[in-house]
Amino acid sequence: MNNNENNPAKDPKVLIALDFAEREVALRFVKTLNPEACRLKVGKELFAITGPSFITEIIQLGFQVFLDLKYHDIPNTVAKAVQAAARLGVWMVNVHALGGRKMMEAAQAALQEFEKPPLLIAVTILTSMQQEDLAEIGLEGSPQDNVLRLAKLAQSSGLDGVVCSAHEVAAIRECIKEPFCLVTPGIRPEGSAVNDQKRIMTPRQAIDAGSSYLVVGRPITQSNIPITVLNQINQSLDN
Ligand code: C5P
Repeated sequence: MNNNENNPAKDPKVLIALDFAEREVALRFVKTLNPEACRLKVGKELFAITGPSFITEIIQLGFQVFLDLKYHDIPNTVAKAVQAAARLGVWMVNVHALGGRKMMEAAQAALQEFEKPPLLIAVTILTSMQQEDLAEIGLEGSPQDNVLRLAKLAQSSGLDGVVCSAHEVAAIRECIKEPFCLVTPGIRPEGSAVNDQKRIMTPRQAIDAGSSYLVVGRPITQSNIPITVLNQINQSLDN
C-alpha cells in the first residue's frame, strides 16, 4: 500500500537512511513508502545483516538505492566492488576520496561497461573528524580545506559527486557547479529532534544552498507518522 502524496516528479531529493537492525522491520517500513516520493540509502549495518538479496528485493519494489558502503581499498579491489554493486542494479554507490586518484579513476572506469552505471560519489572527510583528528593522521589545514581539496580531486578523477555537510555545500558550489552532485546528511525538518547531528540544516535550506540530494534518517524512520513527515519535506521543497 502506498500512501505518499505529492510525488516530486521522478527525481525525489530525499534519500531515506534505512538504519534498521532487522530485515523484516526494514522491509515492513519500505513497503509503506512510494518510490516516486523518495530513494533509499542502505549502509553497512543493514547490508551486513541482510546481504545483497535485500537490495535486489527493494529495487524490485521500484526503489532507487544508494548503497552506502564507502569503499576504500586498492584500485583493483574497489573497481571490482563497484562493479558488484552495479550488477545489483543500485542507483548510487560510494568510495572514500582518501583512497586517491588511482582508486577513484579505476572505480569510474570499471563502471563504463554498464549500460546504466550507478552514480559514483566520494566521501571527502568524515564529518565526525575535527582539525586535531586530521592533524593526527597527517592532514594539514582545516576540515573545510580538506573537503574542498578532496571534492576537486573526486571531480577531476571523473566522479559524479561527493557526500558532504550541508554547511560545506556553498563553498564547494563556488568551485564545482552542477551536475556534480552534492549529497548531504545532517538534515532536520523544522522542529524535529537533532539527535547526535552537530550542524544541521532544514531540507529547504540545504537545497537552496546547492545540495542535490538530502539524506534523512531518524526524522522519518523514528517518527510515528513517517509518511506525513516525508510528504511535508517534499512539500517544503516544492514550494
Ligand atoms: O538519522 P539521521 O538523519 O541522522 O541519519 C543520517 C544518515 O546519514 C545515517 O545513515 C548516517 O550514517 C549518515 N551520515 C551522516 N553524516 C555523515 C555521513 C553519513 O549522518 N557525515
